[in-house]
Amino acid sequence: MGRVIVMDLSRHNTLLVGHDRYFVLRSDGRQLLVHDYCPHRGGPLSLARLTPDGRRLDCPWHGTKVGVAAVRRTCLPMVRSGDEAVIVLPDDGDGAPVSAIHREILANLPPDPSAAGTAPCAADPAQPALDAGR
Ligand code: FES
Repeated sequence: MGRVIVMDLSRHNTLLVGHDRYFVLRSDGRQLLVHDYCPHRGGPLSLARLTPDGRRLDCPWHGTKVGVAAVRRTCLPMVRSGDEAVIVLPDDGDGAPVSAIHREILANLPPDPSAAGTAPCAADPAQPALDAGR
C-alpha cells in the first residue's frame, strides 16, 4: 500500500515526492493533484497555458499540446474535506521525501487567446500520454 499524507489546499498547490512533482489542476469544477510532467521530455505542465479551446495544455518547453483529459488521468487518489486533502502516494518503496509548497500554476489561468493558430500540435490528445514523446 502507498503512503497516505494530508495536504492543506488553502496553503499549498504543489506536492514534491522525491524527484516527482504534482500540482493542483482545476478542471471541470474539480481540483485534481496531477503529475507535473510533460510526456514529451518531462517539462513542467504546471507552467503550461490552456489552448484557446481550453482542451489542451501548451507545454512551455517545446510547445507540445497535451490533452487535459490525459493530464487528468495522471492524478493521485485524493479525498477532500474542505481544504484538507488526504492523498495516497504511489508505493515507491524507497520512502522518498515529501513536501508541500505553493507555486504559481499557470495551467489554472483562463485559456490564452494569443496562442490561437501558433505552434502545431505535437501530441495527439487521443493518444495515451506516455506515447506522445516517442
Ligand atoms: S517537454 Fe513539453 S514540449 Fe518538450
